[in-house]
Amino acid sequence: MTKSINTRVLTTSPTDIALAGQQLAAGGLVAFPTETVYGLGADATNDTAVARIFAAKGRPSFNPLIVHVPDRETAERLCDFSPEATRLADAFWPGALTLVLPMKPDSPISKLVTAGGTTLALRIPASTTAIALLQAARTPIAAPSANPSGRVSPTTASHVLTGLKGRIDAIVDGGPCTVGLESTIIGCDSDPTLLRAGGIPSEIIEDCLQKSLKTPNSNAPLTAPGQLASHYAPRAKLRLNAPNAAEDEFFIGFGDVAGRVTLSTTADLIEAAANLFELLHIADATGLPVAVAPIPETGLGRAINDRLARAAAPRD
Ligand code: TXA
Ligand code: MG
Repeated sequence: MTKSINTRVLTTSPTDIALAGQQLAAGGLVAFPTETVYGLGADATNDTAVARIFAAKGRPSFNPLIVHVPDRETAERLCDFSPEATRLADAFWPGALTLVLPMKPDSPISKLVTAGGTTLALRIPASTTAIALLQAARTPIAAPSANPSGRVSPTTASHVLTGLKGRIDAIVDGGPCTVGLESTIIGCDSDPTLLRAGGIPSEIIEDCLQKSLKTPNSNAPLTAPGQLASHYAPRAKLRLNAPNAAEDEFFIGFGDVAGRVTLSTTADLIEAAANLFELLHIADATGLPVAVAPIPETGLGRAINDRLARAAAPRD
C-alpha cells in the first residue's frame, strides 16, 4: 500500500478547474465527473502518471485505459478514423461512446495506456466540467472509472472518496453523473464490434451504421479485459432476477416490484441506469446479501443486466 496523500476536494469554479488542469499537466491524479461515471484522470503521455492510476486502483496492468480528449481535432491527431468510425463520432460525440481505433505510430500516448497494443480507446465526454478540465490540462487524459479495481463504478464524488481518498491528488466534485453507466465501447479497427454495452444502447448505434454490430467471440483473445466475468463487484452476495427477497436480503426493486430501494418506480430504464451504481453502493454499505428485481433485456436494460451479471459473478 502506498503512503497516504492529501486528497483535495475541488469545485467546478474556473479557478478550481484551472488548478485541477495544472495538477494533471504536472503528473497528478485527479478524479473528475463525466456524464457516464467519475473518471480517475492522469496525463496519458506521462508513463509515471499513468502508472500511478494502476497503483491507486490496484488494477491488473494488462487492462488498457480510455483516453479522453476535448475535441475531434485532438482525437484525429491520435488515431486513424475509418469511414464508420467517422460516422459514429459524428453521431455520438461528445457522449457516452468510446471508439477503439488504430493508433497513429507517432502518437505520444504512453504504452501503459494501450497495454502495449496498437489500438487506442478514445472518447470525447459530453460533461461540460469534463470538457473544461480537458481543455485546461492541454494533454490527452487517460481515465478509467475512479473506483478501486473490481468495485462498483462511482457516480458521485463521495463514492470516489470512499474508495480512493488518500490515494489521489484531487477530485473535482461536479455532482451526480447523469447517465450513470460507463460508455458503450465499439471496436472500430475492422468491422464494428460491440466490446462493452453501456450508456448508448447498441440498437441506436446499429441504426446509425445501418448494420449489426459484431460481438466478440468468447474463445478469442480478450479484447476488453474489463469484460472479465467478475467486475464491478460489490462485496456482498448478489442474486439477480428476484421477483421477491428473503428476509435478510437487501432488495433492489424495479417498476412494480418494490424493493427497499427501487431503480425506477415507473420502470424507466434511463432512470434505472442513472441510479444503478448509487443503489449498489447503498446496498453494499449495509453488508447484507442483495437481491435485484428482474430488469427487461431491452435498450439500456441490456447494459444494466450486463453490469449486474458481472457484479453477481463468482469471484476468487
Ligand atoms: O464511461 C466510461 O467509459 C468511463 C469514463 C471515466 O469515461 N471509463 C471507464 O473506463 O469505464 P474503464 O477503464 O473502467 O473501462 C475501460 C474499458 C476496459 O474494459 C478496457 O479493457 C477497455 O475499456 N479498453 C481500453 N482500451 C482498450 C483497447 N485498446 N482495446 C480494447 N479495449 C480497451
Ligand atoms: Mg471500470
